[in-house]
Amino acid sequence: MNILLFGKTGQVGWELQRALAPLGRLIALDVNSTDYCGDFSNPEGIVETIRAIKPDVIVNAAAHTAVDKAESEPEFAQLLNATSVEAIAVEAAKLGAWVVHYSTDYVFPGNGETPWKETDETAPLNVYGQTKLDGEKAVQKHCPKHLIFRTSWVYAGKGNNFAKTMLRLAKERTELSVINDQVGAPTGAELLADCTAHAIRTAMVKPEVAGLYHLVASDTTTWYDYAAFVFAEAKNAGIELAIQKLNAVPTESYPTPAQRPHNSRLNTDKFQRNFGLVLPSWETGVKRMLAELFIAHSI
Ligand SMILES: NC(=O)c1ccc[n+]([C@@H]2O[C@H](COP(=O)([O-])OP(=O)(O)OC[C@H]3O[C@@H](n4cnc5c(N)ncnc54)[C@H](OP(=O)(O)O)[C@@H]3O)[C@@H](O)[C@H]2O)c1
Repeated sequence: MNILLFGKTGQVGWELQRALAPLGRLIALDVNSTDYCGDFSNPEGIVETIRAIKPDVIVNAAAHTAVDKAESEPEFAQLLNATSVEAIAVEAAKLGAWVVHYSTDYVFPGNGETPWKETDETAPLNVYGQTKLDGEKAVQKHCPKHLIFRTSWVYAGKGNNFAKTMLRLAKERTELSVINDQVGAPTGAELLADCTAHAIRTAMVKPEVAGLYHLVASDTTTWYDYAAFVFAEAKNAGIELAIQKLNAVPTESYPTPAQRPHNSRLNTDKFQRNFGLVLPSWETGVKRMLAELFIAHSI
C-alpha cells in the first residue's frame, strides 16, 4: 500500500510518520519538500504530486491552523484549508484512493453543553472554522472513500503546547488567570495518529466505514482545570513552581481576533462503535506527555 502524507512536520503529521510507517510505503511531505510539492498554497503542485505518486491512501495533516491570523488572511486560509483539499479529493477519486482528513469542532457554533454529534448542524464562529468546514464538504462531495476526523484542543510533546506554556508561566509568576468557560477535551497527536492508523486498517477491509467522525480523548475539562491539573502533576513530580494563585476568568478577559466556541465537547460514540476502539480519558495522554517532559528536563 502506498501512503502519501501531507503536513509531516505538524503536531499530528509528526506522529503520523511514526504510526503510518508499518502500514506500507510511506511518502511524507511538508511545505518545504523538494522531491514533490507539498505546499498547499500551490494546489496545481499538489495535484502533480498525487498524479506522480498514485497513492492508495492520502492522509492530510497540513492546514492553516493559525486561528486568529486566519481572520486577517481569509483567502489564504481558504486556499490551504479548502481549495487544496478539494484538489486532493478530486485526484484521489480519479485514482480510487482513500482520503483521510482532519477537521475541527470549530465548525460548530459552540453554544449549549451537549457534546456535538456528526449529524448536528454546523455554524462556524470564525474564518478558520468556515474554511475547515468548506474543506470537509469538498472531501465529502468529491471522494466517497474518505475518513474525516473532527478533533479539538490538539497537543503534542514536540514543539509548544498549552501545558508547557502554563508551566513556564507558573515558574515565573505567582498569580495567573486562565479561561474557565470553554469546555473541551485535550487530545494528543499521538492518540490521533494511532487511531488514524487503526481506522485505515479497518477501512481497507470494511470500506463501509467511510464517513465523518468525531475523534477526541474522553472526558472534558476547561483551560482553567487543565492548567490546575498540569500544576498538580508538576508538584507531584517535585517541580518547583512560583504560582500561588490561579484565577478562573471568562473568555471576554482575553479578547482575540477570532471568536472561540464555549462548547467544544464532541460525541465520539460513532468512532468508537465503528472502529471497535476505546478512547482514553484526556488525563491519560496529558499525564504521559508531562511525564516525558519532566524526564527530559531531569537529564
Ligand atoms: N491544533 C489544534 O488544536 C486542532 C484542533 C482541531 C483540529 N485540528 C486539525 O488537525 C489537523 C492537524 O493539526 P495540527 O495540530 O497538527 O496543526 P499544526 O501543528 O499547525 O500542523 C499543520 C501543518 O501544516 C503545515 N502548513 C502550513 N502552511 C502550509 C502550506 N502552505 N502547505 C503545506 N503545509 C502547510 C504547517 O507547517 P508550518 O508549521 O511550517 O507552518 C504544519 O506542519 C489540522 O487539519 C487542524 O485543522 C487541530
